[in-house]
Amino acid sequence: MRISLQAGLAGVTNFYTVVGNTPVTDGNWVNLETEYTFGIDVDQLSLYIESDAGTSSFYVDDFQLTYIPPIPIQTNIPNLKDVLAPYFSIGTAIEPEQLSGEYQDLLLKHFSQFTAGNAMKWDATEPTEGNFNFTRADQLANFARAHGLRMRGHTMIWYSQVPAWVFQDSSGNPLQPGNSAHRALLLARMQNHIHTVIARYADIVDSWDVVNEVIDESQPNGLRNSPWLQIIGPEYIDYAFQYASEVANGAALFINDYNTYQPAKRAALQTEVQGLINRHIPINGVGHQMHVNIAYPAISDVQQTLQLFAGMGLMNEVTEMDVSVYTDSTTTTEPDPQTLITQGYRYRDFFNLFRQQHDIINSVTVWGLSDDVSWLKTFPVTRDDKPLFFDETLQAKPAYWGVVDPSQLPIIPQKLNVTHVKSWLVGTFEPFWDALAPQPLTSANQNGSWAQFRAVWKGDKVYVYAEVTEKTLKVGDALDIYVGTQHFKYTKLGLSLANGAQAISLPTKSGYAVFAVLPAGQTLAIGSTLPFDIRATSAALNQQISWSDTHNQQDVRSANLGVLSMISDKQVTNALHGTPVVDANEDKIWKLAGAIQTKTFVLGSSGATARVRMLWDSGHIYVYAEVTDPLLSKASANAYEQDSVEIFIDGNNGQTTTYQSDDAQYRINFANEQSFGGAASADKIQSATRITKTGYVVEAAIAVDSLPATRKNLLLQPKFIGFDVQVNDDGAGTGTRTSVATWNDTVGNNYMDTSHFGALQLLP
Ligand code: XIL
Repeated sequence: MRISLQAGLAGVTNFYTVVGNTPVTDGNWVNLETEYTFGIDVDQLSLYIESDAGTSSFYVDDFQLTYIPPIPIQTNIPNLKDVLAPYFSIGTAIEPEQLSGEYQDLLLKHFSQFTAGNAMKWDATEPTEGNFNFTRADQLANFARAHGLRMRGHTMIWYSQVPAWVFQDSSGNPLQPGNSAHRALLLARMQNHIHTVIARYADIVDSWDVVNEVIDESQPNGLRNSPWLQIIGPEYIDYAFQYASEVANGAALFINDYNTYQPAKRAALQTEVQGLINRHIPINGVGHQMHVNIAYPAISDVQQTLQLFAGMGLMNEVTEMDVSVYTDSTTTTEPDPQTLITQGYRYRDFFNLFRQQHDIINSVTVWGLSDDVSWLKTFPVTRDDKPLFFDETLQAKPAYWGVVDPSQLPIIPQKLNVTHVKSWLVGTFEPFWDALAPQPLTSANQNGSWAQFRAVWKGDKVYVYAEVTEKTLKVGDALDIYVGTQHFKYTKLGLSLANGAQAISLPTKSGYAVFAVLPAGQTLAIGSTLPFDIRATSAALNQQISWSDTHNQQDVRSANLGVLSMISDKQVTNALHGTPVVDANEDKIWKLAGAIQTKTFVLGSSGATARVRMLWDSGHIYVYAEVTDPLLSKASANAYEQDSVEIFIDGNNGQTTTYQSDDAQYRINFANEQSFGGAASADKIQSATRITKTGYVVEAAIAVDSLPATRKNLLLQPKFIGFDVQVNDDGAGTGTRTSVATWNDTVGNNYMDTSHFGALQLLP
């Protein structure tokens, strides 16, 4: 037996199976029970108790139907549209079903404009030729008119959600590229559609997505190879803007796309937009969909994109923003609550950028009211994504507080892997510090950082090098360092140090630096952990920023302290400037390069090792690895178990414990077969191998984005990249990896953690 629900609204009926087919055996009562949530209003309800098959008789008893009222929306929290009013208008995407009940309340409380999630697309508005259906779009537009909201128009010309007839002739055959009659027919359809839809909503729509997702940076012409392009030619975009401008009644006309912050996509979009401008096509702005996630992209990439298009005289609108809790397109595991806090900080950072750049941003739209109705519940796979401001019961999430009041966000204690050092002299400048990634101090409420620190450890001490950018030193400036249960304070008047701590402070070009030797209160070893924080106080700025306790509470609660974890030494080596031929032969220039050895066995205790030399030029890191391996094998199906060399690159030397977009793992086996991890890919590496008497040679050129353009830059500012080399050995030739030797990593985590890489200094 199963239970189905028939729900009707204004004569439209839908059926839902609410309890699935359940075995019911002769003579036994079976309880069929469920709780069902309506996403929409209904004016008629019927319940059916049905058999799966056959017409057996059955009894029904103890029937109960209970109404559970929806949780009301929070009415005592600030309205997003008021909070953001000084900067730009805030919108969301909706469906007509969300014009009633709690959804309506949420929409009217927080948003000053909205976009039709689907109702204005071609498949909704002109399902068959010339037969326009405006039922759903009108519901939205009439609501906007009645409530004084504005709309974004989405979307005219797109490759998706277009009915098949648009690209077919009257007998249902595909329109042909190169056929001028077909081209004219498609242009006429386009004109009629654009004219009809835009004219109908010209009073209520402020900006139109005239073309959507037309850029494809992998195509030679930078344009998506859609039927529009194939049948009309690249000028279809010009026509679309032309037709739109004829009826738009002054509404702004947009080209809308995703990934506009990716450099290659951005460049292709720029080229297209510049062409439109040169040809005097009436385009007013660029729409940035901003389907982003909790780790990607960098805020600075978004900033560059906004500034680029503003510099071309165009408006920017953020049109479809959501922040996925997933960082890939396959994972389906439930996000943990901490992820939603991370998401809150991401929304904070994006909206801080938008506020700063409000002069060049017209509006920001998020793609949905609440997590329950997000398109990301089923795209790119079905999973429990939670990308929006409000949760499934329409309650405010950390994402909302990240925009409205980030001081409400719980602190996520920081973690840092701290490198061991063999020797140390207080106060002497150690070039070694430059090889370590600086850790920024921040505040929950604001973007940016004006202080940073680095730390190393030895014996029972932690060594800290903190740099503060502080133009005007004033009484009240301070640096507080919390180590374990101890508190050390540096003030302008001097250092208050206890328990054998020592420190010196030096003026720097932009402020001051403090070198401190701090007793840990325990003997440290690899694996030891230590509660830790640093807070900087600026009297001139009247600000406090911290590494971990970013709420800067006066009494640091131990829960807000960060954690230092002690790891082994970081080796530092260097690379000369030079460009070898990648052919696995030792060019003369290699003779000048110093060599490192892979001597640290993270699997096994003996086996293949390599002597490795490095060079660099403005685009590449070059590696020449001479592997000693008497028995060569690629018997295993797993690339990592074959005799091979792995090269690890951390382009920004961020030393992060997870891979970021600059982190790459390249693997080359003795037969020159490549495999990749992280940001590595075949187009970024050229390699050659050669079998020798004692093993094999791998030579590789790896493209790295972050390398300096000229050698001169290095005279002023030393440059390090994170780097390691690993040799895999199938010692017995049986398809099982028996040893792994690295240059720096002692734990074998290089494939997912860059904090154990060594550092490679580029020499001028
Ligand atoms: C999505 C809608 O939200 C879904 O309901 C629909 O099934 C597919 O389209 N880029 C766009 C939007 O420009 O139109 C898409 O909207 C999301 C991606």
